Amino acid sequence: MARRSLTVRVLGGLLLAGASLGGSARAQPVDQRIEALLQQMTLDEKLGQLTQYSGDWKVTGPVTFSGNHQEAIQAGRVGSMLNVLGSERTRAYQDVAMRSRLKIPLLFGQDVIHGYQTTFPIPLAEAASWDLAAIEASARIAATEAAASGIHWTFAPMVDIARDPRWGRVMEGAGEDTYLASKIAYARVKGFQGRQLGDTDALMATAKHFAAYGAAQAGRDYNSVDMSERMLWETYLPPFKAALDAGAATFMNSFNDLNGIPASGNSYLLRDILKGAWGFKGFVVSDWGSIGEMVKHGYVKDNRDAARAAITAGGDMDMESNAYRDHLGGLVRGGAVPVALVDDAVRRVLRKKFELGLFDDPYRFSDAARERAALNNPAHRQAARTMAAKSIVLLKNEGKLLPLSRDLKTIAFIGPLVKAVADNHGGWAVTLPNVDYSKFIVTQWDGLKVGLGSGTRLLYARGSDIEGQNRDGFAEAVAVARQADLVIVSVGESAAMSGEAKSRAHIGLPGVQEDLIRELHATGKPVVVLINAGRPLVFNWTAEHVPAIAYTWWLGSEAGNAIADVLLGKHNPAARLPISFPRGEGQIPIYYNHFNTGRPAPADGVAGYSSGYLDEKTTPRYPFGHGLSYTTFAYSDLRLDKAHVAGNDKITVSLRVTNSGSRAGDEVVQLYLRDRVGSVVRPVKELKDFRTIRLEPGQTRAVGFLIDREKLSFYNEKLQWAAEPGEFDLMIGASSADIRLSAGFELAE
Ligand code: BGC
Repeated sequence: MARRSLTVRVLGGLLLAGASLGGSARAQPVDQRIEALLQQMTLDEKLGQLTQYSGDWKVTGPVTFSGNHQEAIQAGRVGSMLNVLGSERTRAYQDVAMRSRLKIPLLFGQDVIHGYQTTFPIPLAEAASWDLAAIEASARIAATEAAASGIHWTFAPMVDIARDPRWGRVMEGAGEDTYLASKIAYARVKGFQGRQLGDTDALMATAKHFAAYGAAQAGRDYNSVDMSERMLWETYLPPFKAALDAGAATFMNSFNDLNGIPASGNSYLLRDILKGAWGFKGFVVSDWGSIGEMVKHGYVKDNRDAARAAITAGGDMDMESNAYRDHLGGLVRGGAVPVALVDDAVRRVLRKKFELGLFDDPYRFSDAARERAALNNPAHRQAARTMAAKSIVLLKNEGKLLPLSRDLKTIAFIGPLVKAVADNHGGWAVTLPNVDYSKFIVTQWDGLKVGLGSGTRLLYARGSDIEGQNRDGFAEAVAVARQADLVIVSVGESAAMSGEAKSRAHIGLPGVQEDLIRELHATGKPVVVLINAGRPLVFNWTAEHVPAIAYTWWLGSEAGNAIADVLLGKHNPAARLPISFPRGEGQIPIYYNHFNTGRPAPADGVAGYSSGYLDEKTTPRYPFGHGLSYTTFAYSDLRLDKAHVAGNDKITVSLRVTNSGSRAGDEVVQLYLRDRVGSVVRPVKELKDFRTIRLEPGQTRAVGFLIDREKLSFYNEKLQWAAEPGEFDLMIGASSADIRLSAGFELAE
């Protein structure tokens, strides 16, 4: 299969030309074929290539297309569609494009965010695995399934750094840390795009949302972003650069304004940085209607002005604004927009269509037989189960309540999410019309029931709804709990509570769920709490009183099996929080790599005139990097091969980690650095590397890291990337707040 697609690729890349070109043109290199095609195109046909519409379902904004899709496609006035699913439908749409004058194939884009038919954990949950290979594999499977059903392009990964859990889209990214998020961005792009574009199991990836969307003020979606250049370059841009380095074919701009200029019209971002300094050769798609929204931003006076601003700034494709379609022609003819700008955008789009091999065979992705096989592949389910188990963070486990003892005769499984179906998918899951998800998703109830087998009685009560104040179910839940040896409570958010436009000002456990936990705890039975959510929630009472808590996010198709695997100890948890969990909304934004300030507050409160709160600690409830295991690990013997470095010297760091408990387990060994004095102040610590090791009970392994100049560099006071001489602290930890070993070294002049 691989060999066959390679042949096709070679033919597609070297020999075949656009469907509209004659035989001799087919032997030309892609550049020439693009030029030949461009010369045949009318201005309207060019604008068609820059225009994208949605099919008529599942939308995140107003569907703006009022005419007939078919006519527009046939007239060459549409270059790309989103939300057209399945080999049959994509084929049917492509048929129409093949009846257009130049037969330029359509591109089908889709939000394939965490799986396609097989749903994987939400991206934030996957990030908690800190397992780059597994994350890449998850994206690979999503691409394999989606590509088989005719999709060419995913609007993922979202690589926005997010430090505000009120923002609903924290669920879609990799959390608060630039280093971890950059590694994950790279892995996801590689996973989606596979070996190379043009393979029939590869999707084009989209690095989104360019840029700084995750810093929306007050956590309100679409809100303004005001940020220093240093913060932009040091914290928010690197994951985009990592996605680019991994070969991301496209970028999507963002809804927000950045320092007063909407991203869709921001030539500093698109022309100076992305297409200029970074040399990006792919194309930039707008976000849904974001070109037109520049009118509401107050940046342009109308849609025509928006079209001019967007194309001038470097936006290539217009998703659902109709701005390019309706106005660019007039702007070009009137001399307000040089046709060269349009041509450049068209070339970028056509190049991707060539690279995908669509001019060779426009239907090559829409393959019903491959679709059937890819969408029902048991190996994909297995991978989803493993990924889901790897994503569960064990926050607390007093008295080794977990894994569940096999001596338990009766367990009560209580809560509004125990038998939930669709909620396990979380936000941004693809809903395919032909799938019966009630059979396809493993509920938590079914997973645990099967996992426990017949030796343990499992009792159920719903207890409460997710939202609302109704306590009518409490009495039954308490009665059920009383009959059991142990109680598991599954609470959290519904899938509709995190995601786009799902900002929450209050991020406590919704409704009366924490009261339900209190009542169950009051029975005196041991209680385990599972929290399902798309963001860090605040659950102080639970954190303080309940002995065992696992954060299960939204885990996808295999949620129930994965949760059972962890509860029963078949999988020993090793996930780590990719984002700090606050004690209250008042602490937001809270992140581990903050500056020290001139008056640092003591960790547990306020002392005098220090940078704390009168009424709250400054530390998070659960810190970045935190996550427990069913075993324990001891760290020892930290050694640096040198304490002084100069120039490009590297330091070899070594240490030993021992499994000091009684079960095999994985430990995520985290390396943090602090530059003690800088031309601009530096964070109290920054993650610079990590390694996951597997250890049998009693086993010891050596772990090595290399510190090079890159790891010591930052944007100095002139905004140049450089390392400054001076002293550094090196910290090795099991989390950002659980530093086990430390040492110092010095970088000489
Ligand atoms: C979102 C994008 C998404 C697009 C298409 C927008 O509302 O912000 O992330 O890719 O819709 O569905």
